[in-house]
Amino acid sequence: MPSCDKSKFGWWQSAVFYQIYPKSFQDTDGNGIGDLPGVISRLDYLQKLGIDGIWLSPVCRSPQADNGYDISDYCAIDPMFGTMQDMERLIEEAKKRNIVIILDLVLNHTSEEHPWFLQAKESRENPYHDFYVWRDGEPDRPPNDMGSVFGGPAWTYVPSLGQYYFHQFSPQQPDLNWENPVVRRHLYDTIRFWVEKGIGGFRLDVIDQIAKDPDRRITAFGPHLYDFLRELSREAFCEEGLVTVGEAWSANVDRAKIMSAPDGSQLSMVFQFEHIGLDQQPGKAKWDTAPLSLPALKECFSRWQRGLSGCGWNSLFLDNHDLPRIVSRWGNDGPYRVESAKMLAMMLHGMQGTPYIYQGEEIGMTNIRLPIEEYRDIEIKNLYAERLAAGYDPADVMASIYARGRDNARTPMQWEASPHAGFTDGEPWIPVNPNFSEVNVQAALADPDSVFYCYQKLISLRKELPVIRDGSFTLLCPEDEQVFAYTRDNETEHLLVICNFSSENTDFTVPEPFMKAEKLLCNYKETKETAGHLRPFEAMMLYYKD
Ligand code: GLC
Repeated sequence: MPSCDKSKFGWWQSAVFYQIYPKSFQDTDGNGIGDLPGVISRLDYLQKLGIDGIWLSPVCRSPQADNGYDISDYCAIDPMFGTMQDMERLIEEAKKRNIVIILDLVLNHTSEEHPWFLQAKESRENPYHDFYVWRDGEPDRPPNDMGSVFGGPAWTYVPSLGQYYFHQFSPQQPDLNWENPVVRRHLYDTIRFWVEKGIGGFRLDVIDQIAKDPDRRITAFGPHLYDFLRELSREAFCEEGLVTVGEAWSANVDRAKIMSAPDGSQLSMVFQFEHIGLDQQPGKAKWDTAPLSLPALKECFSRWQRGLSGCGWNSLFLDNHDLPRIVSRWGNDGPYRVESAKMLAMMLHGMQGTPYIYQGEEIGMTNIRLPIEEYRDIEIKNLYAERLAAGYDPADVMASIYARGRDNARTPMQWEASPHAGFTDGEPWIPVNPNFSEVNVQAALADPDSVFYCYQKLISLRKELPVIRDGSFTLLCPEDEQVFAYTRDNETEHLLVICNFSSENTDFTVPEPFMKAEKLLCNYKETKETAGHLRPFEAMMLYYKD
């Protein structure tokens, strides 16, 4: 094994990643489900965009109770997505284009169909029994009243054992017992299997939840989390250049500093979600939406930017497969779709961290509204049933689903204006957004002012201007309700990012040193005299060098 010196500046600190949700990216065999040959067929497009790596949502064998986040074999490709040869070809073809593949590892839980769990259920004496988290109990009297993320209890009874198993997600996703060193060893072996195949890194699903302690009702950041991560990093990720990003819904700045310490003893970076929760009612579920407070958003980003600078590393994202489309959420998916999609991109991509673009974000794809029967997500279905049973008005429940449902981001990638948006020749597993004839890759590539080219430019700026990677962050006008503006400065370079978050005109006083700065990027075609007057959702980046 190579020596472990992770203290050097990582290549991933000036890289940009692109998340592919394979089920919805590109189908090649007409079954309506995206596949690995489909991903390979789109690598040239991704190279044109300029990304350095692909985070591939799970493609391992799975009964798909939660779209692959329920793995039944960590070392096999699900036939729905293709074969191991397809995977090897993807790694190789991506490498030819200087793109690395980041695999999504679901290490907190397996599928209930994983052979380990099937064995574990056999008897209390079975060597695999202790791979999972069990507690004795009586039928209808679970060990405690903890609930699962997808609704219902976090405990499921197995009558033949007289025991309950613990699952933070659905009953089809039993939690692994990380306290058992044999479990950890098995997981490290599967990681090594993928490293040897040439995988460039890993996204670690709900990694902050592995060290659970249900007796104390602890799910995230349990007592041994940092020990587990240190061991995981030492035993499984000790490879020159591997990048690791841990999904941590409960991270705060202090926790993230430890998880992404520059000595590389834990992970390369975190996915933290504090900004994502700023438009929900305090203390309520994500379904209970509230208007976004721009000052709160700015304070949050600023605290993270300043807090991790020099002592940790953050990822930068607004969209992923669990979140509604950002343009429909904080932007405007009507008349200002293009302007606001670009504005959100510029707001994020001027910051320090490693950006992740979620498929379709780069062309400004939007949320969808479907009748309830057409949704596929386990979380949406459970929510609908639970809230109706609790007496909610169905129209209110649907409004929450339209605003926050995960299937918003899971509709097929819109490639062109032809039937099913060029995603499949068959019947797509979930409907294509009806706006595909206008919003699609082909149209975006043909229009020099499209959202696509804004992302392309932002990616190249990150590589050209060191200040984006290493500059200090200063928030301007923190109380302003419409404008998000900040500067980034290093010893010689100065960048100003100005974003109007509203559909109204507004004014902004450009700081004196930037009066004669170069305008690197603006999201409006027609230029105008003064930078200080902002049109709806207008954004710009100004830059000068000493
Ligand atoms: C993560 C995944 C999500 C999945 C859950 C359980 O949050 O991103 O899609 O449902 O973990 O694995």
